[in-house]
Amino acid sequence: MKEKRGDGCLTMNTTNTGVLSHYGGLLDLPNHTQPVTLLEGDTPLIPVPRLAEALGGGFELYVKYEGLNPTGSFKDRGMTAAISEALGRGAKAVICASTGNTAASAAAYAARAGMRAVVLIPEGKVAAGKLAGAVAYGAQVVQVKGSFDDALSLVVAISEKHPIALVNSLNPYRLEGQKSAAFEICDTLGRAPDLLCLPVGNAGNITSYWMGFKQYHRLKGSGLPRFLGVQAAGAAPLVLGHPVEKPETVATAIRIGRPARGEQALQAAEESGGRIIAASDDEILSMQRKLAGEGIWVEPASAAGLAGLANLMRRGEMDLAGQRVVAVCTGHGLKDPDIIAQQMGAPMILPPTIEALEAVIQTP
Ligand code: F0G
Repeated sequence: MKEKRGDGCLTMNTTNTGVLSHYGGLLDLPNHTQPVTLLEGDTPLIPVPRLAEALGGGFELYVKYEGLNPTGSFKDRGMTAAISEALGRGAKAVICASTGNTAASAAAYAARAGMRAVVLIPEGKVAAGKLAGAVAYGAQVVQVKGSFDDALSLVVAISEKHPIALVNSLNPYRLEGQKSAAFEICDTLGRAPDLLCLPVGNAGNITSYWMGFKQYHRLKGSGLPRFLGVQAAGAAPLVLGHPVEKPETVATAIRIGRPARGEQALQAAEESGGRIIAASDDEILSMQRKLAGEGIWVEPASAAGLAGLANLMRRGEMDLAGQRVVAVCTGHGLKDPDIIAQQMGAPMILPPTIEALEAVIQTP
């Protein structure tokens, strides 16, 4: 039997076979696609009733914890598709611009496929866990003096000039792979939720979710959710209605001023009967703490969707009575450990005596 690269025998003793194997028939990928998988997807949908209560109660709330993908973010769903297609057509190298997670994911899947990866990141603005990932997986990492948007323009230009495959979400196969998250949510709940809230950066993910929910609804009558897309207030071009030249936010993953799929995101929100709003950095960090209080540590950007929802509920602009809500938490907290240290300060230091310890901890 001819051995295929990337799709080893790892699937033999596991129930999760990866996105392409599980949902391949529903993903529009060319015949030359040669599967490269790290068994991504199949992430948990975690009920968080206490958090729902804290937000006002009377509805069901679930977190789709995408930080549990192989490289710690949802990007792996689209990357398995994009890299598999690129490998199948004989690409030797891939390139992307990234605020960090796409870079780590592209680097890992390229390594798995035996391809070179080049990743461009905005200088000094990428969280430590993401940069370390890209380096560990062996990508060539280039910092650009500028924003993510500048880096994206560069990789588009170079991939038009040289045979290096672009794996940003401008690549349609990324969107195909990312649709799988919508399918999974419907499969777990038995139907689509009433509301889906999620962070919006370059706007590929919200676009894919909408494609996925619509496709499943056509096939299975699973229903369609309303969308609540949330940008960071300092990087909210889709809320403001114009590009943001110097986007700034603590949620560096979504520090994007000119989203490549902006038009489609606005259309998805509108068609779904939902909207795109902004949340402040304080609201985002506060929601990051609340999620951690449920045992779910996410990176700041991943808390944006729920931060936006909390904001609307506080203002009485969202009635969820009896509804089912899914919040997509896109990346793991370990991606950005520094933010916690900055917020909380360093832990206290004690002499190694029981008296000192008794003096500072509460004993039951
Ligand atoms: N959440 C996280 C953790 C992300 O890394 C991103 C995007 C998003 C949300 C937004 O998703 O761009 O599809 O709207 N990160 C990209 C990157 C830009 O380069 O890793 P989107």
